[in-house]
Amino acid sequence: MDVLEYSLFPLIILCFTYWYFKNKSTKSSAPTNWPLVGMLPGFVHNAHRIHEFFTDILLETSSNFEFHGPVFGNMNMLFTSDPANIHYILSRNFSNYPKGPEFRKIFDILGNGIFNVDYELWETHRKTTMSLMNHAKFQVLLERNVWDTIVKGLVPILDAFVERGTMFDLQDIFQRFTFDAISKLLLDHDPKSLSVNLPHVPCEKAFNDMVDALLYRHVLPESYWKLQKWLRIGKEKNLIKAWEAFDQFIYPAISQKQEKLMNKNIKDEDQEYDLFGDYIKAYNQWTNEDNSNSGNVQVFLRDTFLNLMFAGRDTTSTTLTWFFWLLAKNPLVETKIREEIQQQLHLKEENLKFFNIEESRKLVYLHCAFCEALRLFPPVAIEHKAPVELDILPSGHRVSPNTKILISVYTMGRMESLWGKDCLEFKPSYKFPAFHAGPRTCLGKDMAFIQMKMVAATIIYNYHIQLVQAQAISPTATVVIRMTHGLKVKVVKKVPLQSK
Ligand code: HEM
Repeated sequence: MDVLEYSLFPLIILCFTYWYFKNKSTKSSAPTNWPLVGMLPGFVHNAHRIHEFFTDILLETSSNFEFHGPVFGNMNMLFTSDPANIHYILSRNFSNYPKGPEFRKIFDILGNGIFNVDYELWETHRKTTMSLMNHAKFQVLLERNVWDTIVKGLVPILDAFVERGTMFDLQDIFQRFTFDAISKLLLDHDPKSLSVNLPHVPCEKAFNDMVDALLYRHVLPESYWKLQKWLRIGKEKNLIKAWEAFDQFIYPAISQKQEKLMNKNIKDEDQEYDLFGDYIKAYNQWTNEDNSNSGNVQVFLRDTFLNLMFAGRDTTSTTLTWFFWLLAKNPLVETKIREEIQQQLHLKEENLKFFNIEESRKLVYLHCAFCEALRLFPPVAIEHKAPVELDILPSGHRVSPNTKILISVYTMGRMESLWGKDCLEFKPSYKFPAFHAGPRTCLGKDMAFIQMKMVAATIIYNYHIQLVQAQAISPTATVVIRMTHGLKVKVVKKVPLQSK
C-alpha cells in the first residue's frame, strides 16, 4: 500500500505540472484541460465574465472551440460564433436542433411556454401568438399602452429626478417601464412599479433573479445545481423565490381578467381579438391532439404569459439601457437622432408629444442606432442547442445528442471578419443578428422597435441624460444580459430645438 501511495503521488504531481505548463506556455485564453476535471476549473473561474471569456476564446480559434468537461460530468460542449454553423443550426437543419429535454430542465420555471417547448405545442404557441400580434387591434392597444406608460409613469419620474437633481439607476427605470407595459398589454393589469416612489414589486425584480440563476445551470454539473435546489441554497434559493413571486402575481391577474371578461358584454369587434380566448383554444387543441398532454388551463395560461412577459421585459429594457450608455459616449449620434425626430415628425418649437406607429417607422436613423446597440450588446447573448441525431456542422465539427452547443451571439457582434476593423465602435448601420433567424426568430421584433423608439424619442427630445463619472460598466454573466451595476445617471430638461 505504502509503495503504491509513494509512486502514485509524484506521478499525479508530474501530470498536473505537465498539463499546466503545456497550456500556460501557449498564452491562450482557452482553459487548461486537466486530467479528470477537464476544463471545468477554467470555466468556473471565468463564469462571472462568461461573455468576454467566450469572445476571447472564439476570436482566437476561428469561431469554434471544443470544451472538454469532467470525465463523469456529461459536460462536453462546443462554443461557436461561426455564422455558417449558426445558420445551419437555426435554419438549414432546424428540425435536428429543437430546444430539447436539457433546455427544458434548465428552464423548468418557464413551464410549457413558447420558449421552452418544441414540435406541435411550439407550433400552436407560435401560430396563436403571431396571429394575435398581427391583429390591427393589437397594434392599437400597443400604441395606446406605450404612450400611457410614458405619460403616466416615465415622464413624472424623469421630471421628479430633474427637480431633485439626484442620480438614479436608468436601467431600473427601464425595467419598471417594460414590466408595467407588458403586464398592462397582456393581463390588463397595471402593477404601477413605475411610480415616483419606486415601490418594490416582487414579481418585477424576480425576473433578474431568474435570469441570474439560469446561466449557472448551464455551467455547473446538473447533480450540483439539483442538490442546491433540494437544499434551497445559493442561486437555486433565489430561483424558488422568483417562481413563487411569478405565481403570486400572474394567477390572480389571470383570474381577475377572466372575471372581467365574463361580466363584460363583449362587442363584435372585441370578439375578433380575444387574447385569453385564443390561448384557451390553443390549450384545448393541444390537449385534444394527444391524450398524454395533461394539464390545467390556468397553468397553461400562467406559462404562456410568463414567457411573453419575460420576452417583453428583459430584452427591451436592457437594449434601452445599453443604447443610452452608447449615446452618452457618442454625442454626435444623439444630435443626429434629435434632428431626425424634429424633421420627420415636423416639430416646431414645442416639446415632443404623441406620435403613432406609422410615424415611428420614419425614424430610420434611430432604428439603425438601436440595431447597432443590439449588435454590441445583444440581449439574448447565448443560445443553447443540442442535436437530436449525430450531425456534422459546416465547420466540420461532429456533434452528438450529448454535445451542448453554446452559440455566442455576443461574440458574433464583435468579429472583425464580419464587421470590419472598427467592429467595437458604435456606428449606426442596418444589420445585426440579435433577433436570431430561422423558424424560431423573435416574434416581438416589431413591437420592441416601436416601444423603444417611443421611449427613446421622448427622452432624447425632452431631456438630456448625463452619465455619472467613474462607474464600472460590464454585462452580467447571464443568458439575457443587463448591466451588472445598473446605469447611474442624472437628467436635465432640454430646450426645444429651433425649427429649421
Ligand atoms: C430588443 C428586444 C428583443 C430582442 C433582442 C429579442 C430577441 C429574441 C431572440 C434572440 C429570440 C430567440 C430565442 C430562442 O430561440 O431561445 C426571441 C424569441 C422570442 N421573442 Fe424576442 N426579443 C425582443 C423583444 C421581444 C418582445 C418585446 C416580445 C413580445 C412579447 C418578444 C417575443 C418573443 C417570442 C414570443 C419569442 C419566441 C419565438 C419562438 O420560440 O418561436 N421578443 N427573441
